[in-house]
Amino acid sequence: MDIGKIGVVGAGQMGNGIAHVFALAGFGVVLNDLNQDQLDKGLATIQRNMERQVARGKITAEDEEKALARIQPTLSVNDFADVDLAIEAATENEDTKVKIFENLCPVLKSDALIATNTSSISITRLASSTDRPEQFIGLHFMNPVPVMKLVEIIRGIATSEDTFKTGYDIISKLDKTVAVSEDFPAFIVNRILLPMINEAVYTLYEGVGGVEAIDTAMRLGANHPMGPLQLADFIGLDTCLSIMQVLNEGLADTKYRPCPLLTKYVEAGWLGRKTGRGFYDYRGETPEPTR
Ligand code: CAA
Repeated sequence: MDIGKIGVVGAGQMGNGIAHVFALAGFGVVLNDLNQDQLDKGLATIQRNMERQVARGKITAEDEEKALARIQPTLSVNDFADVDLAIEAATENEDTKVKIFENLCPVLKSDALIATNTSSISITRLASSTDRPEQFIGLHFMNPVPVMKLVEIIRGIATSEDTFKTGYDIISKLDKTVAVSEDFPAFIVNRILLPMINEAVYTLYEGVGGVEAIDTAMRLGANHPMGPLQLADFIGLDTCLSIMQVLNEGLADTKYRPCPLLTKYVEAGWLGRKTGRGFYDYRGETPEPTR
């Protein structure tokens, strides 16, 4: 299938990044969120990140201008009637996603594809909540989307070969690399990454090291670009906890038990960078460890 126009549901961290890369690759993009404030924030982030790419000589100012003009913000999914592919990039919550598909399906063209950017939830189950499981696929982008080269592609049990091929082709057009994953909890990247982050939180919880020691250890001792606690704040502690819960419930192995300290931070509303506080406090000039 030929994809010309994309709809993205959710203008947050992942949704604005997805809109960014599709618009730069020449696709028309309809970007939807629930309120104007979220939409404005998403668009401002896209502009800021594109300006960063212009400043580093990765794209030209003209590329930026054209890409921004290709993005149509909207508060209503009714504007998705002519998209060829709708990508859901909302909060990592199954009920929220199912509700979005319920609103989306009656609006979409019958041959339009639906993708979800879920980082852990079953593609087969999400697909079965729609009117088109054959035309449903997991396209899991990494954060920050404009920088990270990988996209995981996940087929649900009913995903057709045509849908898979179209998904594969479109990711190649974004100059990204595909890793194909089977539909098991958290797929490949998060199956490996999140238990590592959770273990870093246990290391903190048990007093083996402080925030800075743990992050320095993994940055300089394992050559990770960010320490695991810094990365957790970057992903969002609510998202990290949801993924651990999906692993814990889906695989029923105690090794996936979310660390109580991670739960406590989420309960406090300390969700990381997006709320100004997580394992670091971002409200001052430089991030300060919170323990
Ligand atoms: N948009 C566009 N460009 C961006 C950007 C953004 N949001 N963020 C950073 N960049 C660019 C910078 O302009 C810079 O470009 P050049 O290489 O051309 O100079 C480059 O990225 C590096 O940025 P910085 O120099 O500012 O900072 P850095 O060297 O510390 O790198 C980073 C930042 C790329 C985010 C790096 O720290 C990193 O790779 N961190 C790990 C990220 C990671 O693991 N992501 C996966 C998270 S897990 C996930 O997403 C899955 C899930 O479901 C939870």
